[in-house]
Amino acid sequence: MSMRTNPAKWTPVSWRSKPVVQVPEYPDPKALAEVEAQLATFPPLVFAGEARNLKRALAKVAAGEAFLLQGGDCAESFAEHGANNIRDFFRLFLQMAVVLTYAAASPVVKVGRVAGQFAKPRSAPTERRGGVELPSYRGDSINGTDFTAAARLPDPRRQLEAYRQSAATLNLLRAFATGGYANLSNAHQWMLSFVKDSPQFKRYSELAKHITEALGFMRACGLDPEQHPELRTTDFFTSHEALLLGYEQAFTRVDSTTGDWYCTSGHMLWVGDRTRQADHAHVEFCRGIKNPLGLKTGPTQTPDELLRLIDILDPDNEPGRLTLICRMGADKVADLLPPLLRAVRREGRHVVWSCDPMHGNTITSVSGYKTRPFEQILKEVRTFFQVHAGEGTYPGGVHLEMTGQNVTECTGGARAITDEDLNDRYHTVCDPRLNAEQSLDLAFLLADLLRGKREAAKPLPAAAGL
Ligand code: PEP
Ligand code: CO
Repeated sequence: MSMRTNPAKWTPVSWRSKPVVQVPEYPDPKALAEVEAQLATFPPLVFAGEARNLKRALAKVAAGEAFLLQGGDCAESFAEHGANNIRDFFRLFLQMAVVLTYAAASPVVKVGRVAGQFAKPRSAPTERRGGVELPSYRGDSINGTDFTAAARLPDPRRQLEAYRQSAATLNLLRAFATGGYANLSNAHQWMLSFVKDSPQFKRYSELAKHITEALGFMRACGLDPEQHPELRTTDFFTSHEALLLGYEQAFTRVDSTTGDWYCTSGHMLWVGDRTRQADHAHVEFCRGIKNPLGLKTGPTQTPDELLRLIDILDPDNEPGRLTLICRMGADKVADLLPPLLRAVRREGRHVVWSCDPMHGNTITSVSGYKTRPFEQILKEVRTFFQVHAGEGTYPGGVHLEMTGQNVTECTGGARAITDEDLNDRYHTVCDPRLNAEQSLDLAFLLADLLRGKREAAKPLPAAAGL
């Protein structure tokens, strides 16, 4: 049985009196306080009404009527910031969404890990190379990747740069989403040049042809797609891990239309697998903001702990409020997920179940790179769907680390990237990402799985002659 406790009063600073893990040690607390005070005067990046729209969209996912596609860099980087990167990411996202919408006939809620994904939890506080030990890299909003004492020293001014980059990224994403680029009539043009000779290209081109035909048919019937914003524009939301709580607090503002607190640094925020202790600071901070929340759920999560966290983060059982992002590992998900699904169902909780097939499948390759075998990623997604089918629950989404760039970070896929290939274009500053081809491949697999679900849900045709 989950128990409802009477929580103490929440304020934007109540997290500060709780135990906290994964926080950087700033050498100059006064400089940090000054930066946080300055951030608190900056305009919000998103506004509360948008976060409510996302919550409504996620409520549809919780009800099994839509699918959540969430993805982006493990960690955004100052060095890789640029218009081409943002465009390539966005168009890959559009392609994947179109595959799911058209091939699976499922509305897709699009949420980027973008415009704010700068702070990283680490498994070890320090990193050793040769005989030298330095603080671990914790994301560009905290310190630098170079292996020098100076770069690894947390610098609060990096938070100002993270804000600037988030604002610029979001500005371009908003322009792409509403300014014409996302028009479905452009589905043909979203193909990235390097994907052109890949197997996905053919499949995607066929799909784009069908969409063009369907739009032509609608036009012939007198329905002009140009007049319909649903076809000309798209809703695109942002998300990141709520890790650097001083930064998040600075963007936590009262929404004037409802009087509620929203964290305006992104539409959706999530609690990481390493910071989900029920009585700690990260959970405390997140419970008080009204944004849709994610909760990473790894192999150590017990059903009772999960129910306790759901009580704290979603006391009103509000559909769309909470997305459980499961990251068990391909070989564990079949055993570890069913007890969680049963507990949540038994308590009648309306959550979104999403699959992160990345974080439970990270290995160090023989050549020393942190990588993820594409086959294991696919296996976790497939198993996630199978487990849900077995339990009668809805597999509502995926959470991916992906990039629109032609990187070599995850092994396998249509090009059979090998351990030796990783060295070619290994650009991530943190975890290995799917490249555009691998991402599109995964989208087609998801479309098949979702279509299979739909077919399975249909009543059988009258069995004439049987
Ligand atoms: C992440 O999403 O980059 C991450 C660190 O995930 P998790 O909290 O699930 O380990
Ligand atoms: Co990651």
